[in-house]
Amino acid sequence: MGSGQDTLGPPKVVNIEDLRRIARRRLPQPVFDYLDGGAEDEITLRENTRAFHDIRFRPRAAIALNKCDLSVRVLGQELSSPVMLAPVGYSRLMHPGGEVAAAKAAGEAGTAYILSTISGHKLEAVKAATKGPAWYQLYLLGGRGAAEAGIERAQHAGYSALVITVDTAVAGMRERDPRNGMKELLGESFLAKLPYLLEILAHPRWLAAFLADGGVPRLENIVVPGQGPMKLVDVAAALVDAAVTWDDLRWIRKVWTGPIVVKGILTAGDAKRAVDEGAAAVVVSNHGGRQLDCVSATIRALPEVVSAVDGRTEVLMDGGVRRGSDIVKAICLGARAVLIGRAYAYGLAAAGEAGVTRALAILRADIERTLRLLGCPSVAALDRSYVEVPNTWECQRATNENQ
Ligand SMILES: Cc1cc2nc3c(=O)[nH]c(=O)nc-3n(C[C@H](O)[C@H](O)[C@H](O)COP(=O)(O)O)c2cc1C
Repeated sequence: MGSGQDTLGPPKVVNIEDLRRIARRRLPQPVFDYLDGGAEDEITLRENTRAFHDIRFRPRAAIALNKCDLSVRVLGQELSSPVMLAPVGYSRLMHPGGEVAAAKAAGEAGTAYILSTISGHKLEAVKAATKGPAWYQLYLLGGRGAAEAGIERAQHAGYSALVITVDTAVAGMRERDPRNGMKELLGESFLAKLPYLLEILAHPRWLAAFLADGGVPRLENIVVPGQGPMKLVDVAAALVDAAVTWDDLRWIRKVWTGPIVVKGILTAGDAKRAVDEGAAAVVVSNHGGRQLDCVSATIRALPEVVSAVDGRTEVLMDGGVRRGSDIVKAICLGARAVLIGRAYAYGLAAAGEAGVTRALAILRADIERTLRLLGCPSVAALDRSYVEVPNTWECQRATNENQ
């Protein structure tokens, strides 16, 4: 598999699923499954994507549009399209370019990149790589001291918003990971790695790039006072003590002076609480089906949250987005913009920066084509009248809001 643009164009790569297929070939199974998998029975993982299929479009016919305006403003910043890059931890395992490559591609495409705390590259280097907006996503890994130091560094480096992920009281049970020996592979014991090594050796290209990059990266943005950067293998255990509560938002607000985005909201009650705590935006998210399994697909939860915040804060969403038409549907239901996780990470794994660029180009072309077929001149003009949702969604929303 080459990494140039040629191998990423049609006929080989037409949609995001094509990038996923290349990623699956290129990555050793433990790394691919870490990226691709979800929690427990993966009900929510599947439902996130499937629920988009229940929404029907209501196009306006006989309208000719030469060009549509895809731009949006999120937290006062102009983006070229309503697609932002979600925080994806361990990106450097997928490709040595990791977070730097993804941020660069986002900037070139005129959109924003959100850097995960669990990053193999220094947050300063990631910010320097992009000409677009960059946000920093915070986990309280390594305790409050490490978090405060991370926030201060992010502020100093020029990140324009802080994203607090609130759905990760502990790490979800992603059953593919223990089966693949993910923990053993990231650890230091050679003996413990042995049963899993054959699969790694079967991917010599990935292995060579990984070794040339220095092997398992340290987490340069989680510097535990007196101990230095956290090891990747220690993350799952550290998450147990890292649950973010509403009380934490108060001290975080004192350290971080910019806008705060609360990521991981699924209900009207939590949305209202986030607004009361001063969130400038909320992200309707179930972590891509990686945390609590059997929660609602995010596209189903979106209308309830939009109605609850009633314009007092911006609403973003993520989960299951694989096509531009999914993004258009989310905007019609009230999202200001959409975050993509796996859709760009498959591209990153397939071909580094060029793969992320290709993923963004596919989605952009999809959105533009969908708008033209809908007879809608711009993303800003999309509204509820362009879609039809199942009656059961409406009934459920009314029940939930009255609880
Ligand atoms: C491999 C992987 C790692 C992730 N790491 C983080 C993370 O470090 N912090 C976070 O807030 N969300 C993380 N997420 C969740 C994403 O930010 C996003 O909510 C999710 O991927 C959206 O679903 P999608 O992948 O179907 O687009 C991760 C998702 C994946 C797939």
